[in-house]
Amino acid sequence: MPRPTPEIGGDHQRLMRYWDRHARSYDREMRFFDRHLFGESRAWICAQASGEVLEVAIGTGLNLPLYADDVRLTGIEWSPAMLAIARDRANRLGRTVALQQADAQALPFDDASFDTVVCTLSLCAIPDDRRAVAEMTRVLRPGGRLLLLDHVASSAWPVRVLQRLLELVTVPLGGEHFLRRPLHHVRGEGFRLDHHRRVKLGVVECLVARRPSQP
Ligand SMILES: C[S@@+](CC[C@H](N)C(=O)[O-])C[C@H]1O[C@@H](n2cnc3c(N)ncnc32)[C@H](O)[C@@H]1O
Repeated sequence: MPRPTPEIGGDHQRLMRYWDRHARSYDREMRFFDRHLFGESRAWICAQASGEVLEVAIGTGLNLPLYADDVRLTGIEWSPAMLAIARDRANRLGRTVALQQADAQALPFDDASFDTVVCTLSLCAIPDDRRAVAEMTRVLRPGGRLLLLDHVASSAWPVRVLQRLLELVTVPLGGEHFLRRPLHHVRGEGFRLDHHRRVKLGVVECLVARRPSQP
């Protein structure tokens, strides 16, 4: 049985509204970054998904056309405006997907509900990324796979300096982080890495990790 959705409150409401305001321009802005920074990574990550799949912070649903036809897809997102665009896209694609408003830091699903959890370009924006990874772990079945794509702290220090400067603006404005490393949280949760790739001066990180069968 699904858990009740906890209320999203305080500063999180402000960040949610930030994404509401950016929903209309999001696809246009992402087209540039997908072309020049993330390349084929989205398509590659989504191609690894199978079975009962949860996409966390699904945004406008840019990944929807990239999943295999036989995956059973659920998507959560906290911005109603982003979610509305994802819903339209799913309808246009004729793709069945259970979409609901929820907070990635308190997922409204029972333990061990999914075979695959996907999260692309969102752990940089979720306020507590460690808690979000812990929640993704909780809802994954033992042996299930976590698929992550994000921009992270570069492996080159001059780029990290630029990222630090960028964060001075982007964190207070919209909660967008550039110096995070979700990999550390994934390791902390005891996952085994099946695949790990870091490109573009270490800024773009892609990983496929398996939740251990035994805790
Ligand atoms: C950069 S966008 C990425 C969207 C999509 N995953 C993609 O790959 O295009 C970040 C998304 O994370 C969502 N988000 C941030 N914090 C969240 C949270 N705590 N719970 C649910 N969604 C969240 C934002 O509303 C936004 O849609």
